[in-house]
Amino acid sequence: MSALLEIDGLGISFGGVKALHDVSLTLAAGEILALIGPNGAGKTTVFNCVSGLYHPQRGRIRLDGRDIQGLRPHRVAARGIARTFQNIELFRHMSTVDNLLLGRHLHMRTGVLSGMALFGPASPAAREELRHREKVEQIIDFLDLQAVRDQRVGGLPYGVQKVVELGRALAMEPRVLLLDEPAAGMNLEEKQDLRIWIEDIGAMFGISILLIEHDMQFVGDLADRVIALNYGERIAEGTPAEVRSHPEVLKAYLGATDA
Ligand SMILES: Nc1ncnc2c1ncn2[C@@H]1O[C@H](COP(=O)(O)OP(=O)(O)OP(=O)(O)O)[C@@H](O)[C@H]1O
Ligand SMILES: [Mg+2]
Repeated sequence: MSALLEIDGLGISFGGVKALHDVSLTLAAGEILALIGPNGAGKTTVFNCVSGLYHPQRGRIRLDGRDIQGLRPHRVAARGIARTFQNIELFRHMSTVDNLLLGRHLHMRTGVLSGMALFGPASPAAREELRHREKVEQIIDFLDLQAVRDQRVGGLPYGVQKVVELGRALAMEPRVLLLDEPAAGMNLEEKQDLRIWIEDIGAMFGISILLIEHDMQFVGDLADRVIALNYGERIAEGTPAEVRSHPEVLKAYLGATDA
């Protein structure tokens, strides 16, 4: 499998703290790769570097062989990388449908929700808006969000908000999806649904997935490969079973429990 996303020698410090030191990884097309490690290991920082929120001081990030480090977040998104956030980032006062439509603004030429109102129902702008709405409806069906489609997102249960956020990322039709602890705070049933959706997102839509997750059962069920970080450094790589029993990983998690 050829690498779709390549991270090479990534380094970034905040004040005196090295958040990442010489971290490299590759994500192959069609792969589900999990990033694990104790709190503060640098997992979210990797996502922030890839998605353009942080500009790393060292290293390169390439998508399909083209450098993306230093690009601003909307440019990275336009190249085909979408993400969800550890602390859900949605427009809380807006409905599920409108949050997903906003996820499509990258693909919009005529602006958000303006086509029909400004140019009439037969205009190219209105037709474009209809296409976006169709795409959003497909995602709503896929993620089983019909019941909450018109509800204000801020009033939805936490687990449902996480699914809406996944939907907003999918609405961008990315090639690479970065999921930061998607199962955190979910109950068992929600986690089971989420696991199947993530599998389908990979298999049916051909989207490659980089997944941060603390739930090792969840990681073991989903991931083709796992990379473990600790104190900003890569300490292990392999299958879920290999990484779970890796001595450095066991030591890192023991240290975290003692702390
Ligand atoms: N913007 C920032 N300013 C200062 N320090 C930061 C910043 N972002 C990250 N860090 C530091 O970098 C280190 C790694 O943080 P990061 O959020 O990447 O960890 P994580 O592996 O995602 O942890 P968790 O499992 O708790 O989410 C931590 O020491 C954190 O305090
Ligand atoms: Mg994090």
